[in-house]
Amino acid sequence: MSDFPHVAVLGFGTMGGGIAQVVAQSGRRVTVLETSQERVDAGLAAMSDFLAGGVRRGKLKEAEREEVLGRVHGATEVAQLADCALVIEAVTERPDVKRELLSAVAGVVGEDTVITTNTSALSVTGLATAVSDPSRFAGLHFFNPAPLMRVVEVVRALQTDPEVVRRLVAFTTSIGKDPVVVKDRPGFLVNRLLMPYLNDVIQAYDDELATAEDIDTAVRLGLGHRLGPLELLDLIGLDVHRHATLSAYEATLDSRFAPPPLLAQMVAAGRHGAKNGSGFRTSQEESR
Ligand SMILES: NC(=O)c1ccc[n+]([C@@H]2O[C@H](COP(=O)([O-])OP(=O)(O)OC[C@H]3O[C@@H](n4cnc5c(N)ncnc54)[C@H](O)[C@@H]3O)[C@@H](O)[C@H]2O)c1
Repeated sequence: MSDFPHVAVLGFGTMGGGIAQVVAQSGRRVTVLETSQERVDAGLAAMSDFLAGGVRRGKLKEAEREEVLGRVHGATEVAQLADCALVIEAVTERPDVKRELLSAVAGVVGEDTVITTNTSALSVTGLATAVSDPSRFAGLHFFNPAPLMRVVEVVRALQTDPEVVRRLVAFTTSIGKDPVVVKDRPGFLVNRLLMPYLNDVIQAYDDELATAEDIDTAVRLGLGHRLGPLELLDLIGLDVHRHATLSAYEATLDSRFAPPPLLAQMVAAGRHGAKNGSGFRTSQEESR
């Protein structure tokens, strides 16, 4: 077995569930912490369903599905994480919630345990100060859906020990992902490039440069992207993109991150994208 034989994942939501599954598929034992037994059970049921889909599509055998599920254990008390070698925090994106939990977890795990956060928009360097010995703290930013998206950003906080970065890169590779090492700056790498691009597209659409459909067609066929930018925005969620780009704008005062006025209006009107059936490419004619 490679490094980190027992991994704790904090939060059994969208990201925590996907990350726990990927880590368990690498042969490691995983303990997932949640706020209640009901949430643990819901997370296990979602993972079981996802893996059953893989069995139906011939991606894995039923026996492998059972082995993976057998390596995942739920927990509702921080004390149950005491012997884990790596912690991956994936709870609600609120600094107060994350800081309190990270500090409690750092208090029960061993001094050598590496502690990471999957935050998208908070400062990893800031969160590191919640942990005793911040040199063992870093970001480990998975993309959604974690079982399918290959890239993981290994985020180097100001305090992170280079040896911790090296071990996280090796760990990420060992779970079948492709790590990229990134400095801790708003948006890290992928979202730093993506947010100004999406903002620019929204402004182009608002300026009536072309219809929403034509903008997506042009980018898919002209740039070879799998999804057009407005389809992508609907999938990400307009509210999620607005929150992310506004956070980056507030942190940097870089106008490339400033949310375009139309984005703010669409969110204010409750048009959040595919999740509520109303965005740029959904109910398109009502979106301005
Ligand atoms: N959803 C995405 O596309 C995405 C992508 C990359 C990173 N992220 C980041 O991942 C993190 C989780 O996002 P998500 O989309 O999975 O959220 P989610 O709401 O689906 O899941 C969060 C889970 O954390 C649990 N939780 C809250 N407080 C807790 C506590 N004190 N102890 C244990 N569990 C607790 C909640 O019960 C919930 O199940 C966030 O930091 C987010 O920014 C999200």
